[in-house]
Amino acid sequence: EKNIVSSNNEIEPTYINGILIVNKKYGLPSSFGGNNKEAQSALEKLQSAAKLDGYSMPLVSGYRSYNTQKSIYNSYVQRWGKEYTDTVSAQPGHSEHQTGLAFDVGELNSNYGNTKEGIWLKENCHKYGFIIRYLKGKEDITGYSYEPWHIRYVGVEIATKIMSQNITLEEYLGIA
Ligand code: DAL
Ligand code: ZN
Repeated sequence: EKNIVSSNNEIEPTYINGILIVNKKYGLPSSFGGNNKEAQSALEKLQSAAKLDGYSMPLVSGYRSYNTQKSIYNSYVQRWGKEYTDTVSAQPGHSEHQTGLAFDVGELNSNYGNTKEGIWLKENCHKYGFIIRYLKGKEDITGYSYEPWHIRYVGVEIATKIMSQNITLEEYLGIA
């Protein structure tokens, strides 16, 4: 259960049932990534719908390159130490942000899940193809603290299944 390595010694991105999986176990090659048009457009639809309901869902962080993630991760380690950092930040090559399919919206605060905006996001994100990726109570599966602001694009059909069952992407894919 880990990345396939190609003949030129680069790791390959891992797709299970056509879904790109990025977590502590499955990483990405450093060259992988960029903005994703489909996910970007889904995010804009989500933001417009939120606005119609009276909520602001500002983008805080979207696509991040391998090197950007590396700087973020290393600065966290310097400030907070590795043990804590590994519960809140992905190591370079292991962030969903490198795929262009993940976005942080609203406020990067664990209480965001209790705010009207955070509740709207949890209840409505699937309609635009997103899941809340790091759920409360699922830390031992995802490897990360609860992040009510981090949404991952998987498409409407799969997002609806995942969010209605309150499960993680790992559980949905059978790799938990
Ligand atoms: N905060 C999430 C886990 C990331 O760094 O991708
Ligand atoms: Zn995030």
